Amino acid sequence: MAEKKNVLDGVTGIDAADSAQNPVCRVAFIGSECYPFVKTGGLGDVMYALPRALIRENVEVRVILPLYRCIPDKYRDKLTYKGSFMMDLCSDGRTFYVGIMETEKDGVIYDFIDNREFFDWGNPYTGLWEDIPKYCYFSKASLAILNYLEWIPDVVHCHDWQAGLVPLYLRTRFNDTPIGRAKSIVTIHNLRFQGICGIEHLKYWTGLPDYLFDYPVFKRNEDEANMFKGGLAYADWITTVSATYAQEIQTPAFGEGLDSHLSYHSPKLCGIVNGIDVEQWDSAADKLLAAPYDVGSVLEKKRENKRALQEKLGLEQDDSKMVLGLISRLTDQKGLDLVDAIFPQLIDGNTQFVVLGTGDSRYENAFRYYEGIHKGTVCAFISYNEGLAHQIYAGADALLVPSLFEPCGLTQLIAMRYGTIPIVRETGGLKDTVQPYDGSAFTGNGFTFDHYNANLLLDAVNAARTLYFTDRVHWDDMVRRDMEKDVSWENSALQYLDLYLKLKG
Ligand code: ADP
Ligand code: GLC
Repeated sequence: MAEKKNVLDGVTGIDAADSAQNPVCRVAFIGSECYPFVKTGGLGDVMYALPRALIRENVEVRVILPLYRCIPDKYRDKLTYKGSFMMDLCSDGRTFYVGIMETEKDGVIYDFIDNREFFDWGNPYTGLWEDIPKYCYFSKASLAILNYLEWIPDVVHCHDWQAGLVPLYLRTRFNDTPIGRAKSIVTIHNLRFQGICGIEHLKYWTGLPDYLFDYPVFKRNEDEANMFKGGLAYADWITTVSATYAQEIQTPAFGEGLDSHLSYHSPKLCGIVNGIDVEQWDSAADKLLAAPYDVGSVLEKKRENKRALQEKLGLEQDDSKMVLGLISRLTDQKGLDLVDAIFPQLIDGNTQFVVLGTGDSRYENAFRYYEGIHKGTVCAFISYNEGLAHQIYAGADALLVPSLFEPCGLTQLIAMRYGTIPIVRETGGLKDTVQPYDGSAFTGNGFTFDHYNANLLLDAVNAARTLYFTDRVHWDDMVRRDMEKDVSWENSALQYLDLYLKLKG
């Protein structure tokens, strides 16, 4: 037996899998990304943090992921080969290699599915033409490896459309195999992405029976099929990442064409709000910061972090300036056209602006342009940079999240944990996690606006600036209040556990 630390009871010397001798249940997480191996956004954070929160509740968890080429060697080198087999996939019986590479970290087992044909590309997502076959393969292989490993979970917990076919394979090809006794949950992290393609293309790659390609399951219109739609129909339960988004997606404005499908399935739909891993995001122990801090030292140390950030990014070093941060994928979802529309008013002589992100060239170029004309006041860091993200969360005074829609959003949670005041639009999880500042009761965690309108965003920014520059005592109170707010996974992990136990029966 391997010498590993058993996080469940502090005993060393036994495998994590052996250690949970009487786990309350077993759950397989199936998804397309997971920090620290591969992350493009919040899904990667959740796939990392929620399993860690669940093992503290004595749930045994395995996380199943594709072994993408982009996973750094420092992780690949630690993987152990667990076996391989050939798996049939397509309607013409075409078979593919399935390798299993495994590692364990802090009690969570990670099983990577190895297949160079599908996963040897640069990034996880390379366009639907490749992604559809890739995630058909991944969904089926995920169930096949659980049978192969003879580790049969009570629940397969599938994340987003990339794992959307799992419930369908479970109830068809795998129904009479050991894994067939598992129940399935599909969590919607972002309904905008669904895996849509021609019906014949999906029939070929899934090898699934014709009767599934009708309107209640896969069919989208005369020509197209929708992978996620099918998975949602066949899942035993559907969750999404906030209560508000669970309601919103049942309306045409947020349903991305699936609002009536989701309303029909609403008896098995609920929202459970995301948390963050409070060890990963801990300003007091964060080695990436110039000056780590806790709630007692935040006011003094934030100034130091701000100066270090200004220096690093070539901004004027002046801690009397208010620093607004934005850390985001640069896409339409994130409300960046509103930021663009009010940019001239954002830069008022007392405010600096820092954006960290990549995405649509239209936004990348707009922010580069603003940096060019406001040197020393605006920084557009157009890249993905985990370390700089930490430094912005710590060094900024406020963080903008003006999203068009936001299933949950993690950046506002991280900001609060780092004593940075969120300025958000009241949608999805932003509405559920940021209580608006009330200047008469001195309550609240941030500044909010409701309708998707640039003037309302500007009003919210101006309200934040007024408090910051004219009533610092109450601003500072909010900073401390935010740092003390519970943004951990603990509560939500218990809600998932209730759901697992209910499904397990
Ligand atoms: P989404 O999943 O829609 O992108 P979330 O708010 O749920 O949005 O999660 C975003 C996550 O990705 C956060 O952990 C945030 O810090 C991180 N992130 C986003 N853009 C960058 C970037 N350019 N560099 C580093 N981290 C980033
Ligand atoms: C998605 C959503 C985001 C959410 C994240 C994790 O990418 O856009 O709102 O926080 O998934 O659930």
